[in-house]
Amino acid sequence: MRIVDLIEKKKKGLKHTREEIEFIIDSLMNGTAADYQISAWLMAVYFNGMDIEETTHLTRAMINSGEVLDLSMISNNIIDKHSTGGVGDKITIILIPILQALGVPIVKLSGRGLGFTGGTIDKLESIPNFNCALPMEEILKQVKEIGAAIASQTAKLAPADGKLYALRDVTATVDSMPLIASSVVSKKIASGANNIILDVKYGSGAFMKTAEEAKQLSELMVQVGKNLGKKITAVVSAMNEPLGRAVGNSVEIIETIEFLKGNTSKDLEEITYKLASLSVLKMDMANSEDEAVQMIKKVVEDGSALEKFRVLIEKQGGNSNIIDDYTLLPNAAQIGTINATESGYVESIDALCIAKASKILGAGRDKKTDDIDYSVGVYLNKKTGDFVQIGDTLATLYVNADNNLSTAEILVKNAFEVKSEQPEYKSLIYAVIE
Ligand code: URA
Repeated sequence: MRIVDLIEKKKKGLKHTREEIEFIIDSLMNGTAADYQISAWLMAVYFNGMDIEETTHLTRAMINSGEVLDLSMISNNIIDKHSTGGVGDKITIILIPILQALGVPIVKLSGRGLGFTGGTIDKLESIPNFNCALPMEEILKQVKEIGAAIASQTAKLAPADGKLYALRDVTATVDSMPLIASSVVSKKIASGANNIILDVKYGSGAFMKTAEEAKQLSELMVQVGKNLGKKITAVVSAMNEPLGRAVGNSVEIIETIEFLKGNTSKDLEEITYKLASLSVLKMDMANSEDEAVQMIKKVVEDGSALEKFRVLIEKQGGNSNIIDDYTLLPNAAQIGTINATESGYVESIDALCIAKASKILGAGRDKKTDDIDYSVGVYLNKKTGDFVQIGDTLATLYVNADNNLSTAEILVKNAFEVKSEQPEYKSLIYAVIE
């Protein structure tokens, strides 16, 4: 087989066999295919697509390019929740202690943020001394001891994805459904989960701009996961407004703790309870969604989920006193406010504008190697549906360097749309695909 013939085949829109796809991934991994050849093949896939069978073969080949974790010594039913990336999405960090309190074992391997989407690992690392670089033996030991562990994903899992993603990123081929589906599902399966729950976002602050595109991607990922023998569910949810009120790193940790203390906003609660109740149902621990939600509410209200978060922070070396004293988290030097210039009801808050502002302030990165500032970010004092009067604070900016402040201020101000009618709360959940 020759790579050039396989590029030609996909260029003509023909279907690859399993052997051909395995040959492409082997050639990528052993260096016999040049980056420009793989890039040309990616562009051919971008334009001509791949069907479910080809996407399944690609996913399998990517899984087999590296290590596959065996978590069967902990349980044969390990849940892994994964978000395709959003703005203010701190749900993984809230979900872990809730599931821990309910006795659901959870191993979470997460990534860092890139571009406009924040990363779970970055947020957790804003807790002084919190260690996410856990070797596998440590993860397994910790899950046995306290029921949960969260660590940064190693390059040994689905390494073909890392190589392909680097090429996709610089050849404008990221937004291809079969390439996204194989990238996400291969990493989840290589991480050892057999019960995967995907939170697939759409909207201004997400990869997929429309609900229908996100549904199509979800259907593809669910089918590929099933073809590879996994239980997999996708929740399709809107990401037009940041989830909750905080966008950044330490500010999102504060909002996580507040959620576990019982203070939350409706949108964050809706998605968190949906994903948590699906996890409980997948573990056969409840007979209905209502029953699952009651179980979840109980561990939040009685404080046991918050106590599990304390235990998790301490176990991973972090300073758990942050739970009672937020000043122990990285604090920004300056605080700015964006005030309303008209009265009315907040109609919408554009997620992408807020994400850009937070990134400009230093909370996000362009390149994997960039440093980030844990202390900066944006807090939404008002959410959609709230009434505001001229002069009310719409949002608070946590700032360290003045240089980008005015651009961030304009972005946050422009993110808010105020109208005279109060909008109704619209459920964020568009579909659940199983
Ligand atoms: N997230 C991933 O892990 N991979 C993609 O290709 C896109 C989003």
